[in-house]
Amino acid sequence: MPFPESFLQELTDRNEISEVVSGYVRLTKKSGSNLFGLCPFHSEKTPSFSVSTDRQIYHCFGCGKGGGVINFIMEIENLSYPDAVRFLARRVGLSVPEDERDENYSKRERMLSLNRDAARFFHEQLKAPAGQAARDYVKKREISGAMVTSFGLGFAPDSWSSLVDAMLARGYTKPELLSAGLARASKNGSGGIYDTFRNRLMFPVIDVRGSVIGFSGRILGEGEPKYMNSPETLVFDKSRNLFALNLAKKSKKGYIILSEGNVDVVSLHQAGFDCAVASLGTSLTPEQARLISRYTSEVVIAYDGDAAGQKAAQRAIGILEKLDLKVRVLRMTGAKDPDEFIKKFGAPAFENLLSRSENHVEYRLSELAEKYDLSVDESRIAFLKDATGVIAALPSSVSREVYAHKVGEMAKVSAEAVLSEVARARKSLISKAKKQQEREQLSPIKAQQPRERSLHFENIRSAAAEKGIISLLYYEPSLFLGEQRILAEEFSSPVLGRFYSELLSRIRSGAQPSLSALSESFTNDEISLLTEIVSQPQMLANADKALDDYINIIKTERLAAEQNTNSDSILRDFAERKRRSKGYGG
Ligand code: GTP
Ligand code: MN
Repeated sequence: MPFPESFLQELTDRNEISEVVSGYVRLTKKSGSNLFGLCPFHSEKTPSFSVSTDRQIYHCFGCGKGGGVINFIMEIENLSYPDAVRFLARRVGLSVPEDERDENYSKRERMLSLNRDAARFFHEQLKAPAGQAARDYVKKREISGAMVTSFGLGFAPDSWSSLVDAMLARGYTKPELLSAGLARASKNGSGGIYDTFRNRLMFPVIDVRGSVIGFSGRILGEGEPKYMNSPETLVFDKSRNLFALNLAKKSKKGYIILSEGNVDVVSLHQAGFDCAVASLGTSLTPEQARLISRYTSEVVIAYDGDAAGQKAAQRAIGILEKLDLKVRVLRMTGAKDPDEFIKKFGAPAFENLLSRSENHVEYRLSELAEKYDLSVDESRIAFLKDATGVIAALPSSVSREVYAHKVGEMAKVSAEAVLSEVARARKSLISKAKKQQEREQLSPIKAQQPRERSLHFENIRSAAAEKGIISLLYYEPSLFLGEQRILAEEFSSPVLGRFYSELLSRIRSGAQPSLSALSESFTNDEISLLTEIVSQPQMLANADKALDDYINIIKTERLAAEQNTNSDSILRDFAERKRRSKGYGG
């Protein structure tokens, strides 16, 4: 059942789109009633994401995503339509009519509350008599009481059912414990369940809104597996969250330190680097990078010093760079990770390391220099080839010049020689990029097609007219109050026909043609298409004449298509008869 019209109206009135979007995107440029920023839905360096305060819609010219405020929240928070509505309702303190009807919503809420209670339980256990071994371990790792509190660290007792028992007693059910990943089903078929986390130091994973979404449990000491993490659940998406971002987002440092381990993060915070985060046991994802970019414009990568850590750093650079984040990489010597480094050399030494951390170009060049033996001619040439590749990709000519000199010194060749190689490499990079762009954008037919393949138009000319009608419905609804001059069934594109009939029936019942009200009956891709249509400029001066033309085009195209199929079938018929008559004749 849909939400009541009046409720949706109030919801969208109170959630002004540019305010909501500003929570996620830095909206900078302004042109008329449009604000621009970097699109949060794809990687880009120049803003093509626009928000119209007049029409209360967003639209990205780069990736084609668009819609109203509810669509935005669906897309960026990865929520279903009803959850996005609730999210926005909560944002402005509006209560949602018949809230209990959506099953998924209450499931999520229940799971979050179970997680919170479990985190409290673990935290209490760390202080209880049973927590002695864990307290010893915390002490051994030199983790302070203040950190135990601010991270909400806990202890999962060495027992098969202490959490399960405590949570069942609080009224949670076995299926709830299972689906939250806090318990597992016994294999013996008894229907029993047992604790997932046993005898482990517990790190709750808390999202930026302060909800406990999952857990990481470290073994006390040595052993396998070292860490156990919550599985992906209704509320836990590892690729879209970072450990400690709930704390780091409040840091005044102006940058974020990306490390690998939970203990590294705790150690860094304890040493005053309250801007440290870690990914959740997987390598950095583009979604995590985007999340980071909401809070900072500079990232320092402080991964482990071993080969695996350095390889992961290279990958992370590639991902972060795409988002226009300033990336630096820390080089640690004498310690395997930030935790060990700080314990060994102290916080000031780490601060020093930070200030000397190389920007990613320097970092890459020194990585390359280490890979090749520069005293051997052949490897010097190979080094130069790789290094010119790195330099050629730099957007600024000044930095290309600076690093060309540096590489020249490293490989003992003239800067001019390096620069001419760079120029060559750059030429080929640019031509590759151009070709790619042409392939993507310059195909005129493709440009008029929706990005989503399943929505592609069969008849571009008719579809253009159908889009025009939809746009008129949106901006000149009064034109459609009289007799109905064209039917949805006459549209060549099924999705455009559906937009038409939905919008028309709204208008005819006296309602506004709003995107939010339509969101429930259309997919996100369809809403993006609709947004694109209503974002296109329309000449409204001759609206009634335009409507005539559009209707004419649709009807003519339809007739032509019908005649085509007719003549096709006449031809088929003819061929068939000829074949038969031959048969009879022979
Ligand atoms: P120590 O300093 O050794 O206490 O560990 P750490 O917290 O620094 O973590 P480490 O650098 O060893 O590992 C980095 C991250 O990888 C951890 O935070 C976990 O998320 C993940 N990880 C490590 N070991 C395991 C494992 O055995 N299983 C799983 N699933 N993840 C692991
Ligand atoms: Mn570590």
